[in-house]
Amino acid sequence: MAENASTGLGEPPSVAALSVAETATTPAKHLTEQEINPWDVQAGTDEHGNTLEFDYVAISQKWNTKLLDKATLERFEKLTGKKPHRWLRRGLFFSHRDFDLILDCYERGDPFMLYTGRGPSAGSLHVGHSIPFEFTKWLQDVFDVPLVIMLTDDEKFLFKEGLTVEAVKQFSKENAKDVIAMGYDLQKTFIYSDFMFMGSGSNGHFYENSMEFSKLVNFNQMRGAFGYDGSTSSGRVFFPNLQCVAAFASSYPFIWGDDIEADRKATTAAIPCLIPCAIDQDPYFRLVRDNSLRMPRPSPKPALIHSKFLTSLQGAGGKMSASVPMSAIFLDDTPNQIKKKINASFSGGQETLELHQELGGNPDVDVPYQYLCYFEDDDEKLDRFYDAYKKGEMLTGEMKKECITLLQSYVKGFQEARAKVTDDVVKDYMKPRKLEWKGNPNPTKS
Ligand code: TRP
Repeated sequence: MAENASTGLGEPPSVAALSVAETATTPAKHLTEQEINPWDVQAGTDEHGNTLEFDYVAISQKWNTKLLDKATLERFEKLTGKKPHRWLRRGLFFSHRDFDLILDCYERGDPFMLYTGRGPSAGSLHVGHSIPFEFTKWLQDVFDVPLVIMLTDDEKFLFKEGLTVEAVKQFSKENAKDVIAMGYDLQKTFIYSDFMFMGSGSNGHFYENSMEFSKLVNFNQMRGAFGYDGSTSSGRVFFPNLQCVAAFASSYPFIWGDDIEADRKATTAAIPCLIPCAIDQDPYFRLVRDNSLRMPRPSPKPALIHSKFLTSLQGAGGKMSASVPMSAIFLDDTPNQIKKKINASFSGGQETLELHQELGGNPDVDVPYQYLCYFEDDDEKLDRFYDAYKKGEMLTGEMKKECITLLQSYVKGFQEARAKVTDDVVKDYMKPRKLEWKGNPNPTKS
């Protein structure tokens, strides 16, 4: 939402822009360019080695995605009757591929599905992980469509050193609880672990699609998408096929009622899919978009809606990381841990109280303010904070306090919901079965 920058999350003046301004006469030189791929995400550095903010417009241009514009959000609101989620309004979800085609589907009342996922690399999610899941839940509520959630424990086994199959399967079960605690409707949601579902629960459909798809994609394409070389394990070369075919409705014909009939499978193959994901996952889905129409039962190219990364507590250019405890607020953190982490986070305030009151703070780089933008729904309140901080009327400690209170209550709400998710509840969500949903109540199709 490039046009609407009022809250600071849309297109705030970036750290890159600020540091360029300091050396106004010389053009920006980068020591290193940003690196964004599914396994490694790093911001670029300026000529002095200082970390820059991620350049999301640049990545969108490089990968040829579309920036989500005002017209698309207006159309969304008109069709669904729902105000766009604050993460759409504030540009956290900023880019897409064919989202308009999904809106066409919704308008006509045609079926489509939602698909998202997570690589279970640790026992607990952090608030950065909860964003795509919360957003997907909101989309599911608005569109009223079936949703599949893939837990790629096999991916983590292959791509992270030192993890056993048993360990990643256990992470899947734990993460499934976190995901379920977001409040997904059981009737409309199927969650699966790759190891557990493909091993026995899928009746062969998923595996058949994987084989058909992998036969279409050669090593050059895999290397082009993921930068593999001759020493890459063959498991890593193969894995992307799985994350790709997970976007085909025909991988889960049971969701639509029939599990085995061949013509049923042909029908489900034609059902479109919308994938909410962070932008680093795009290489997978370019691959599936390039090949889905070549499948024996062609599937439409899946549509995507991309998010930015949740800023690390250390500030712009960092990404919350499950393996760096101080970079992230975890969903199992205690109120005190949250307080400590926010108090230690990167601030856009001035060194001293006097200087702050005189010069004002910079909310655009202030981590507590950025987090308020993610979790506070009230646009007016945020605008007030933004202005007051800039003028030096609102102090760093006050901004931190607002952020601590909000995050403590968010995490507490989550923990209460999670405590109710028993092993039996997990089994219910992870059972392959027919799902129930309504879709658009007022389609325009006659
Ligand atoms: N590869 C993703 C991760 O490591 C997990 C994933 C699988 C995913 N399918 C997805 C994420 C679809 C977003 C959308 O977290």
